[in-house]
Amino acid sequence: MACGATPANLGQWNKNAEFWDQTLGEGNDLFLELILPTLEELADAKPGDKVLDIGTGNGIVARRFARDGVHVVATDYSEAQIENARRRTEGSGKVVTFLQLDLLDKSALDEFAEQFPQEFDIVTGSMLLKELSDLKPLAEFLPKVLKPTGRIIMANLHPCFRKPGAHRVVEVTENPRTGAQEIQTLIKVSRYLNIGPVQSKALRGQPEPLLWFHRPIHQLLGPFFDAGLVVNMVREPSFQSGEDPSLAQSYHNFPQIPMQFIFRLVLLNP
Ligand SMILES: C[S@@+](CC[C@H](N)C(=O)[O-])C[C@H]1O[C@@H](n2cnc3c(N)ncnc32)[C@H](O)[C@@H]1O
Repeated sequence: MACGATPANLGQWNKNAEFWDQTLGEGNDLFLELILPTLEELADAKPGDKVLDIGTGNGIVARRFARDGVHVVATDYSEAQIENARRRTEGSGKVVTFLQLDLLDKSALDEFAEQFPQEFDIVTGSMLLKELSDLKPLAEFLPKVLKPTGRIIMANLHPCFRKPGAHRVVEVTENPRTGAQEIQTLIKVSRYLNIGPVQSKALRGQPEPLLWFHRPIHQLLGPFFDAGLVVNMVREPSFQSGEDPSLAQSYHNFPQIPMQFIFRLVLLNP
């Protein structure tokens, strides 16, 4: 078992798994509009490619890639998440190999890397890095399982504009000329560099809060640079599908503020 906060979050994930699976299904608007299309764009998967989806949860990303002859291995450290991912995938007609792997456990990572040396064209990690108390074991593991021409894509809530450092502000005013109610949205950032870890209930109503490790961008990327990886593509998508007048705080009402910070890593010296 790895050190640090892992055991606590692991227990919480096992308790949250059913709620997450039922709530997210094959993905909410965040996945369908922002994460999945951007992962697909940056991954550029071709038939015959091998994909590794780490911290797969109920397997939303893994199933999305498992088509057109793309072979997918997906891992998570939570037995309950893996169980849900397997069950959902069996009913989907797709083929994914699910394995248990703790991304903080160096010996488990070494063992996995020996089993799959330089095997993957694409590695994906969606909404994962905030879960990890230490990025170094993962950063050192990735080059061992990546093909020299491979790419790694990590999707995260934007660390500058989204929680836990940034808060949504909604101003409701009445236009003096027309009398119409107007809503203006803005983001208030009071802290960015040193935050947390904090407890978070990312999905409203989830049974257990989870520890969230916020990192400013230099700390988010630094461990990957130290491991010989470089960023060669970045996307900062926001919702563009129209505003939501019925829910002022909806993320759809912040089209100018990126919801996601998605980056692609490749080997500096393949
Ligand atoms: C926010 S969920 C995202 C799941 C999935 N990638 C998605 O986007 O739907 C984070 C996932 O990371 C997993 N996780 C957290 N810490 C982990 C660790 N140390 N090793 C492996 N998986 C971990 C959790 O079990 C959970 O399934």
